[in-house]
Amino acid sequence: MATVIDVHTHYVPPGWPDLAGPGEPDAPWLRLETERDAVIMIGSTEFRRIRSECWDAEARLADMDADGVAVQVVSPTPVFFSYGRSPAQATRIARIFNDLALEICAPAPQRLLPFCQVPLQDTDAACREVERCVAAGHAGVEIGNHIGDRDLDDHGVVTFLQHCAALGVPVFVHPWDMPGGPRLDRWMAQWLTGMPAETHLSILAMVLGGVFDRVTDGLRICFAHGGGSFPYWIGRMDNAWRRRNDVVGTSSHPPSHYLRRFWVDSLVFDERALQHLVATMGVDRVVIGSDYPYPLGERPVAGLVQRSRFLDDAARRRILVENAEAFLGRPASHTGSAHAGSQGMSTSLP
Ligand code: CO
Repeated sequence: MATVIDVHTHYVPPGWPDLAGPGEPDAPWLRLETERDAVIMIGSTEFRRIRSECWDAEARLADMDADGVAVQVVSPTPVFFSYGRSPAQATRIARIFNDLALEICAPAPQRLLPFCQVPLQDTDAACREVERCVAAGHAGVEIGNHIGDRDLDDHGVVTFLQHCAALGVPVFVHPWDMPGGPRLDRWMAQWLTGMPAETHLSILAMVLGGVFDRVTDGLRICFAHGGGSFPYWIGRMDNAWRRRNDVVGTSSHPPSHYLRRFWVDSLVFDERALQHLVATMGVDRVVIGSDYPYPLGERPVAGLVQRSRFLDDAARRRILVENAEAFLGRPASHTGSAHAGSQGMSTSLP
């Protein structure tokens, strides 16, 4: 089985200092039920039941070995981003969680690569925190796709992205904070339609907001869930850019021009959808993402790419390994078994 690099997984630490305080309602905390089961609580509300795979490196490594995964990018769970809190409190939460992520990944630093979170509502604080984290051993940063009404073309966010590009730090964008309401609070509609739409909107904001025209092409940025609905609607957006250029023509080129500027993960669950995604993005722009260990993720990891008949061996290898190495900025020095990654991957950024 080919080696796999999984760029989309999440962690939750097994506990953290009390985050409640004056002016900080609904602080997140963890209610441990057994050694292996816990509930993420937001104030007095149950947010999500989780298991010890969220924090137990041994359990993660056993699952990685079972699925042939050499390396996981271990990212925050978006509910902890805290962009709606005060910058001081968001900075405190980021520091606590980022340090705990290093501890969780410490048993296998070559195979578990932590991505940090930053207080993105405060550009200077976010830049300082990503610098601190990279110096401490983080391999990149995960950001939410918006800060309230500010999208990825917001001046402060663009400044942060440029800072990441200058530092050579890869950025993984995860949808979060989806709109609610009577039509969206049913079933899992916020996850099933809200998340793909959020990611679509944020890529559109980077394109039409001129971000890709302004930032250096040294920016390495990847979007979760196959880029949401964006790749499916390139034709509609290009048509609008041409026929309603008076409104939509705010970028130098039509939206399809910018497909070469970012990566997406492979988490689309359907071979026909993956074939369309690879045809749209290019075979070098799709990486493996599983959403491990959450139930809306893919198990076994990379199963869709492994079994998809339209991919030849070279294309499959690019998606399983090489594209992620390009996104992460790490050398293609490991091959073969899952364990070979332990020796071959450097933890230092280039
Ligand atoms: Co996810």
